[in-house]
Amino acid sequence: MIRQLEEILDQGRKSIADAGSESALNELKVQFLGKKGKVTALMKGMADLPPAERPVMGKVVNEVKNSLEELFEARFREVRELDLERRLVQECLDVTLPGRRMPTGALHPLTLVTEEVVQIFSTLGFGVVEGPEIEKDYYNFEALNMPRNHPARDMQDTFYISEDVVLRTHTSPVQIRTMLKQRPPLKVIAPGTVYRRDSDLTHSPMFHQVEGFLVDAQVTFGDLKGTLVTFLNRFFGRRIGVRFRPSFFPFTEPSAEVDIACVICNGKGCRVCKDSGWLEILGCGMIDPEVFKAVGYDPAALSGYAFGMGLERLCMLKNGINDLRLFFENDIRFLRQF
Ligand code: DAH
Repeated sequence: MIRQLEEILDQGRKSIADAGSESALNELKVQFLGKKGKVTALMKGMADLPPAERPVMGKVVNEVKNSLEELFEARFREVRELDLERRLVQECLDVTLPGRRMPTGALHPLTLVTEEVVQIFSTLGFGVVEGPEIEKDYYNFEALNMPRNHPARDMQDTFYISEDVVLRTHTSPVQIRTMLKQRPPLKVIAPGTVYRRDSDLTHSPMFHQVEGFLVDAQVTFGDLKGTLVTFLNRFFGRRIGVRFRPSFFPFTEPSAEVDIACVICNGKGCRVCKDSGWLEILGCGMIDPEVFKAVGYDPAALSGYAFGMGLERLCMLKNGINDLRLFFENDIRFLRQF
């Protein structure tokens, strides 16, 4: 029996050393020390021994059992440590690897230009107002001295929503709405989206303008000129050539169109300025007395100037963009450049 025990211990030692995982060890432990295991079977067999031999045998069996238990314990610990080491290597994170960049959006070039125009005029003391894009014929035309059937309406091809409602063709109706709501002195700009039935290389049915106007006692054309020249110099970041040309708008008298020296050829003449050296950039004038009458202001006591300009054109000239459609195609390669 002692030999059997020694064999079991030997076997156990080898098998335990060979077991490479906790589950293999658990199985082995059942085989050796479980209820139906080898050692337990021998312990049961002790009942058949003569009583004098039992204490000695009992001691040996216990010793073998304890040795096996210790061997199991030690191997369990080893296997757990090996397992941990393996996992630490396998599951290791390289925290020095560069992270994946989240693509971030950016503001649209037209938004950037609008913000810049607003910024420049606010340093000159102008506030910002807004008006609706779906507008009454009255504000878009009539109160601006363009009665029904007036030929001046032909200047702006209009989207009609109903007989009396249009998509605003310009930001000038915001002048009327503001003058009706507030009392002079007024000094505001009104950026916004406008619509015209026009679509080709240089016209989009939807585009953007900034309106500006000032109402006070004794406003002069000189005030208008000073403000616009200051704005244009700041916007283009240098002293730029500016000229005022007599023109006509129903809501201003006198009216002018403003040109800047061509930013492409510096006034020498090129394709963009059609060899004239000048680029038309905005319309302006002194607010017509008829407009003041429409909002209940006294034209004898008040005067004012107004101007309006296209934001797409400003943005194109400033950034050397040569195709209007780029603004509305949302090509990410274009938008990324701003
Ligand atoms: N509303 C005009 C247009 O869209 C632009 C304009 C011209 C606005 C002269 C003004 C102005 O305020 O005084 O064509």
